[in-house]
Amino acid sequence: MADLSTTFAGIKSPNPFWLASAPPTDKAYNVVRAYKEGWGGVVWKTLGEDGPPVVNVSGPRYGAIHSQDRRVYGFNNIELITDRPLAVNLQEIKQVKRDWPDRALVVSLMVPCTEESWKAILPVVEETGCDGIELNFGCPHGMSERGMGSAVGQVPEYVEMVTRWCKQHSRMPVIVKLTPNVSDIRKPAEAAMRGGADAVSLINTINSLMGVDIDTMMPLPSTGGYATHGGYCGAAVKPISLNMVSEIARTPATRNLSISGIGGIETWRDAVEYIALGAGNVQVCTAAMVYGFRVVKEMITGLSDYMDAKCYRSIEDMRGLAVPKMTDWQYLNLDYVAKAKINQDLCIQCGRCHISCEDTSHQAISSEKDGVRHFEVREEDCVGCNLCVLVCPVENCITLESKPEGSIDIRTGYEVKGHRTWLEHPNNPGATNPKPPAGKYVGAQHVEKHADFCSEPAE
Ligand SMILES: Cc1cc2nc3c(=O)[nH]c(=O)nc-3n(C[C@H](O)[C@H](O)[C@H](O)COP(=O)(O)O)c2cc1C
Ligand code: SF4
Ligand code: SF4
Repeated sequence: MADLSTTFAGIKSPNPFWLASAPPTDKAYNVVRAYKEGWGGVVWKTLGEDGPPVVNVSGPRYGAIHSQDRRVYGFNNIELITDRPLAVNLQEIKQVKRDWPDRALVVSLMVPCTEESWKAILPVVEETGCDGIELNFGCPHGMSERGMGSAVGQVPEYVEMVTRWCKQHSRMPVIVKLTPNVSDIRKPAEAAMRGGADAVSLINTINSLMGVDIDTMMPLPSTGGYATHGGYCGAAVKPISLNMVSEIARTPATRNLSISGIGGIETWRDAVEYIALGAGNVQVCTAAMVYGFRVVKEMITGLSDYMDAKCYRSIEDMRGLAVPKMTDWQYLNLDYVAKAKINQDLCIQCGRCHISCEDTSHQAISSEKDGVRHFEVREEDCVGCNLCVLVCPVENCITLESKPEGSIDIRTGYEVKGHRTWLEHPNNPGATNPKPPAGKYVGAQHVEKHADFCSEPAE
């Protein structure tokens, strides 16, 4: 049976599933119940400095975007860091770690951006016996206006400086939680590395406004007659986070940085995707808030079965396997050709593929044959864009099939052969070593129609 245990930033955990710092990890009551359900670790809800606790709104602090079947696929919040007294949190953390020594317990921290503030909180947190700290440089609302959270995370110099203070003034592993509200995630990741971080975790929430009630003209969610922007998370943010994780994992300067993947993880499959892109473990918030702590059971059994089926003995066996397959656009093979194909046995003749391709793509799907409703792809027009596959309501009814080497692409008239990237393409004025067209040009069947954008001349 596959071994699901992980050692992340030196912190041991029986499985890679941690609860992210958020309401699910707000107090001992939650964390203990989460451990009982099987969570491998938690990042305790962010603690602030000693003093009067922060005050949250007492109106709607959450918003959601639902699918038509009422599934929550986007979630937003305007909640602040913990509003419970520091001493109470520290006491509970100490007790929980003592009672659950085999589970990971990391404490999330956010204090003002001064060395004194960090120097003051680090020893009292270390004294709890927790496994490490996560620096919350990510919350984009409320605390950022006070110079914390994403206000720090958006400035690489601050990220480096605070990380360094934490490494200097404590012996605990330091995980730096990154904000996605930046234009290049690699910059704060590099800064965290320079500061001595043991790992980064990403993403925290994305700046968002969930909508407007058009009867009252009130932006949502609103509290007492006003609204404010919040942080977006849930299934909808997974693609954004996956991209950021992969950027860090494939960039030479940061590729050795340990990554905790966060954002939209609902199932074991999501976790495998993050791990394949370089994450050493994953963190979950929204799925736990919407479905409860029990979701981890299916995550564990699903991941274990998958790893057994694929003969991965450990998480490390599969970590990063998809990273070498990520590249920049300019290195994609422009000689690769795929065409859409409709399985007539599965087609329910709804016509959606035809409308999408006709109105917005390449007019490559006919809607009629011999006077009868019938949908079929015209290879000579299809550019393999995938739009019809995505809009078809029947799964696997339309597939994209790659043309084998040596066959002719009847749209362009070229033999499918070879491998030219943009850097070698004759249409690229900046190409240093342009390669001639890959295969033999045999004469397109519809040269006239495409003469305007078919750049290679007919023989
Ligand atoms: C209600 C709520 C409160 C949150 N509070 C915190 C917090 O205190 N500290 C923190 O680092 N992240 C906080 N987050 C962000 C989550 O830890 C996580 O990074 C984000 O929700 C993305 O994961 P998800 O898509 O699984 O929810 C919060 C998220 C939500 C929804
Ligand atoms: S792949 Fe694109 S171009 Fe080809 S049939 Fe489908 S929508 Fe049209
Ligand atoms: S969208 Fe799918 S089901 Fe509908 S007509 Fe096209 S192929 Fe058939």
